[in-house]
Amino acid sequence: MNIILFGAPGSGKGTQAKLLTEKYGFDHVSTGDLFRYEMSHNTPLGIKAKEIINRGDLCPDDITMGMLKNHIVSHADSCGFIFDGVPRTIHQAEMLDDEKMFDTTKVDMVLYLFVEMEEVERRILRRAQIENRADDTPEAIKVRVQNFFDQTMPLVDYYREQGKLVQVDGMRTIEEVFGSLCEEIDQRLA
Ligand code: AP5
Ligand code: MG
Repeated sequence: MNIILFGAPGSGKGTQAKLLTEKYGFDHVSTGDLFRYEMSHNTPLGIKAKEIINRGDLCPDDITMGMLKNHIVSHADSCGFIFDGVPRTIHQAEMLDDEKMFDTTKVDMVLYLFVEMEEVERRILRRAQIENRADDTPEAIKVRVQNFFDQTMPLVDYYREQGKLVQVDGMRTIEEVFGSLCEEIDQRLA
C-alpha cells in the first residue's frame, strides 16, 4: 500500500508519518528530509537546492522526482511507502502516476491533514525554537504557505477526481489525528 500524506507546511506530515511507519512498517520517504541530507553533505544536488529551499520555494520537478526515484529503487523490498511532501505539483503527481517512471508505486490513498494557516505558522515558529531549519523563518514560511496554495492545493482536486482523497482534521492533538489516520488505513486494508 502506498500512501501520500498531504498537507500544508507544518501540518504534521512528518510527525504522523513517523508514527504510521512504526505501526505499519511502511517506508517513510520525505523529499524535504532527502534534500536536507544532500544539503548537509554538500553534494552537488544539495548545493543546487540550498538557496531555493532556504527562501521557501519549490525545487524543480525533475530533480525532486529523480531523487525520489533513486530512493524507491534502493528500497525495492519495502511493503509500501508513505510519501511525505511529495508530490507537490500536478506535474509531480503525473510523473508518479506514469508507469514508465514509477512502475511499482501506484498511489492507493491520499490522506490530507487539514490545518488552519494561523496554526501552521504557530507550529513552525515553535519548532524553529527547538530545531534549526533555515527555512523556518517568518519570511520563508510566508513563501512556503503561498507556494502551497498556488502549486500544491490543485492536487486536492486531482486526487479527489481519482477517488483517493481522504480529508482528516489535523487541528486536534497528535494522538487524535493519528487515531483517525489509522482508522482510514485499516478500513482500506480491510
Ligand atoms: P518539507 O521538509 O517537506 O517541509 P514542509 O512541507 O514545509 O513541511 P514541514 O516539514 O515544515 O512540516 P510537516 O507537515 O512535516 O509538520 P511536522 O510534523 O514537522 O520541505 C522543505 C522544502 O524542501 C520545501 O519548501 C521545498 O523547498 C523542498 N521540497 C520538499 N519536497 C519537495 C517537492 N516534492 N517538490 C519541490 N520541492 C520540495 O510538524 C510541525 C511542528 O508541529 C512540529 O514541531 C510538530 O511537533 C508539531 N505538531 C505536529 N502535529 C501537531 C499537532 N497535532 N498539534 C500540535 N503540534 C503538532
Ligand atoms: Mg516535514
